[in-house]
Amino acid sequence: MNVLVSLVFQLLLEIWRRIIKENPRCSYQAIEKIADYYRSGAGKQQTLAENRQAFYKYKIRPRCLRNVENVDLSTTILGEKISMPIGIAPTAMQKMAHPLGECANARAAQELGTIFTLSTLSTSSIEEVAEAAPQAIKWYQLYIYKDRNITRDLVIRAEKAGFKALVLTVDAPVFGLRLEDLRNKFTLPSHLRLANFQGIKSGMNTERDHESGLNNYVTSLFDSSINWEDLKWLKSITKLPIVLKGILTAEDALLGVQAGVAAIQVSNHGARQIDGTVAAIDALSEIVKAVGDKIEVYMDGGVTDGVDILKAVALGARMVFIGRPALWGLTHSGQAGVEQILNILKKELITCMAIAGFSNIKEIDRNLVVHENYYSKL
Ligand code: FNR
Ligand code: LAC
Repeated sequence: MNVLVSLVFQLLLEIWRRIIKENPRCSYQAIEKIADYYRSGAGKQQTLAENRQAFYKYKIRPRCLRNVENVDLSTTILGEKISMPIGIAPTAMQKMAHPLGECANARAAQELGTIFTLSTLSTSSIEEVAEAAPQAIKWYQLYIYKDRNITRDLVIRAEKAGFKALVLTVDAPVFGLRLEDLRNKFTLPSHLRLANFQGIKSGMNTERDHESGLNNYVTSLFDSSINWEDLKWLKSITKLPIVLKGILTAEDALLGVQAGVAAIQVSNHGARQIDGTVAAIDALSEIVKAVGDKIEVYMDGGVTDGVDILKAVALGARMVFIGRPALWGLTHSGQAGVEQILNILKKELITCMAIAGFSNIKEIDRNLVVHENYYSKL
C-alpha cells in the first residue's frame, strides 16, 4: 500500500513539474521576468529612486481651524466630473498580472468613479475594455506606428468604443535601456497576445543575446521620426482631446499649448526611459508656471500615498495618475486589489487634506507646500 501511495505521489509530482516547465504562467522564472519588467526603471535606476525620494523634499504648511468636517475630493477633468484627482496611468500587458488584466483594472476605476487609461500595448482589446467597464471614464494611450493606418485604426476604434481622450505618449520615440529586461530577454509570455493587433506579427523576438523582445517590437514598428508636425496629423483624424504624456520641460509644454493639445501629463514614464531625468514631481512646477491656466496639467511617477497626492495637487497637478501601484493591486487580487489601492489612496488623501486644513480640492493652493530650502532660509 505504501509503495502504491509513493508511486501515485511520484506521478503527481512529475505531472506538476511538467506543468511548471511547459506552462509559462506557472514558471517561477517567467514570473520573475514579469516582476522585473513591471518594477524596473532604465539604466542604474537613479531616477526610479528619485521619483519617490523627491516627494520628501516638499513640506506641508498645514492650516488650522478651518472646518474640515466634510472633505470633497471631486473635481472636473477635461469637462467631466470625477470623484477624485487620482486615476490610473497606462501600463502595458496587464494580463501578465491577472487573467482579467485591463478589464479588471478598468472596472476598478469605474467603481471608484475615476479615469482609466488603456495602453496601446494592452492584452485586452479596446472593445473588451469598453464592454467590461461601460461607465468608466476611459482614455486611450497612443503610440504612433510607422504604418499610420494602424494608428488611425486604433484611434477610430477608441472613439467608437466611447473613450474620452487620447493620451499621446511622447517620451518614447525608442524604448529605454532597462537592464533587467535586456538580461531577461523580456518578451510577452506565449499564452498572451497584444489584443488590438490581430494579424500583425508581434515582432517581440529575442533571437539575439541581450535583447528585450519589447524593445525589438518598438524599434521595428513604432515611428521614431514623429515630431510636432505629426500632432497636426493626429488632430486631423480625431475630435477627441489630446493629452501629451511624458513632458518634462516648460519648452515642450508650451509647444504643446501652441499645438492645441488639451492637457499635459508631466511624467518620466515611471523612470523607464532615460535614467538621469528629473523626478516627475520636481518637473511639475516649471510646467505649471509656464502653462498657467491655458490647459490642464497632470502628473504621474512615484506616487504612493495620500501625502504625495496632496503635494502634487498643491504644486499644480489637476490630476495624479498611478502606474505600478495599480499593477500591484491587480496582481494581488484583480479588480478588488486595484479598488483597494484606490480606496486606500482616497482615504489617505481625505485625512491629509483635513489635517492640512482643506475640505475641497479646488481650494488647495500653492502656499500649502514649500520646498525644504524654504525653512533653511528663514
Ligand atoms: C508603464 N508606462 C507606460 N506609459 C505609456 O504611456 N504606455 C505604456 O504602455 C506604459 N507601460 C508601462 C508599463 C509598466 C510596467 C510601467 C511601470 C509603466 C508608464 C506609466 O504610464 C506611468 O508613467 C508610470 O508608471 C508612473 O510611475 P509609477 O506610478 O509607476 O511610479
Ligand atoms: C513600457 C511601455 C510599454 O514602459 O510604455 O514598458
